[in-house]
Amino acid sequence: MQTNFPQSFLWGAALSSYQAEGGNFNSDWFLWEKTRNITPCGKACGHYERFESDFDIAHSLGLNALRVSFEWARLCPSPDAFDEEVLEHYQRVICALAARGLTPLVNLHHFTNPVWFAERGGWLNAANIDSFLCYTKRIAQVFKEHVAYWLVFNEPFVYAYNGFVRGIWPPGARSYAQARRVIENIASAYISAYQEIKAIYGARISHVSFSKHMRFFAPCPVFSLGLSSLAARVRDAIFNIQFIERLATRGVLDFIAVNYYCKEYVHFGFPAGRECAHQFHRERKNHIGWWMYPEGLYALLLRLRRFRLPVIVTENGSAETDNDAYRDYMQAHIEAVARALRAGVDVRGYLWWALLDNFEWDKGFEYRFGLIHVDYAAMTRTVRPFALDFAGIAKENRVTW
Ligand code: BGC
Repeated sequence: MQTNFPQSFLWGAALSSYQAEGGNFNSDWFLWEKTRNITPCGKACGHYERFESDFDIAHSLGLNALRVSFEWARLCPSPDAFDEEVLEHYQRVICALAARGLTPLVNLHHFTNPVWFAERGGWLNAANIDSFLCYTKRIAQVFKEHVAYWLVFNEPFVYAYNGFVRGIWPPGARSYAQARRVIENIASAYISAYQEIKAIYGARISHVSFSKHMRFFAPCPVFSLGLSSLAARVRDAIFNIQFIERLATRGVLDFIAVNYYCKEYVHFGFPAGRECAHQFHRERKNHIGWWMYPEGLYALLLRLRRFRLPVIVTENGSAETDNDAYRDYMQAHIEAVARALRAGVDVRGYLWWALLDNFEWDKGFEYRFGLIHVDYAAMTRTVRPFALDFAGIAKENRVTW
C-alpha cells in the first residue's frame, strides 16, 4: 500500500541545546553533574561551534525541518541580564537553518534551568514564572519574523517525574506533592507564554505548543489482568491525555506535538513498570531496554483525532547498536504515521530524535540516537546508513510498504 504525505509535510530531526551544544556552565544540570557521580555533559557534541556543518549534513539528507532548543541559562546567566552575544548566536542558528531550507521548530525549555532560577526554588515557586515569561517575551520579539513554530516546554511530565518523584534529575526531590506543584506552575507558565507569543506576533503566523511525551501503556499479564488493565487505563488518562485536554480546552494549543518512543507494561504493585514484562518476548528491546512498539504510535495518534488539531511528531527514535535495528524502527514508526494519516489524523510532520548522537542525561553518552554518529574524542560526524533510508523517504514524501 502506498501513502502520500501532505505536500508541506515536515521531515526532520530534533536536538536540544544542553544535550548537544556543550559548555552550558550556567545550567542547573551542569551543577547537578558535579555533585552526583554521573558522566558530565562537558563539551557534548560541540554543536555550539559546529552548528553550521551539522545543519549542512541535515540539508544534504534532504530534511526540511529541524527542532532545536535555546538554552535559557546561556541567554540569561543572571536574573536581570540578557547575553546579547548569545542572542546573536541563536540568530545565526536560525539564519543558518533558513539558508538550508530547514524550517525551525524552537523549544524554549528542554529540561534545564538557569542556576539562579533553580536557587530561587525553580518551578516549585510560582513567583518564578515571571522570569520565564520575560525570557519568552524577549525571544518572541527578536524572532517573530523568523520562527513560526514554538514549543514552549519539552515533556513537562517527564521533567516533573524524574526531578521531583524519582529524584534522578535535578533538583533530586522525591515528592508527588512537589511534582504536582511543578506541573501546575508549568501549566500556568505555558498558558501565559502562549498568550504573550500570540500578542507579540499579532497577525504573523505562529504555531505554539509544547512537546508531550506519550507512552503506550499495556497491562502486564503476569499479575491480575483486570487490575493491570485498570492501571494501564489510569496511567494513560493521567500521563498521556489529561494535560493535552486541559490546554486544548483552554484554546491554547495550535497543534499537538508528540514525542513517542515505546511501550510500557503496567500493573498494580511491584516490581514496577516495564520490568514485569521480562518473560514476554513479543516485542524487541532496544539498547536502553525499552520495548519497541510502533503500533503504540498509531494507537496514540488515533486517540488524538478527537482534539481536531494538527499533530507533529516532534520526537521519535531509538538507541540501537546496529543499522538494521535503527532502520526497522524508523520504517515501522513512519508506517504507523502513514496509517494514522490514512485514518484521518492530521499529521503534519515527523522528526527523528536525534540529528546527532548526544548527551543522554543521567545515562551519559553510551546510548546513541543519532541519524549521525558522533565520535566524541575527535568530534567528527558520520552519517549512519539508515539515515540515508530516512532521507529517501523524506525526498519521495511517500511510503510504499
Ligand atoms: C527527551 C530527550 C531524550 C530522549 C531519549 C526524550 O523524552 O526529550 O531529551 O534524549 O527522550 O531519552
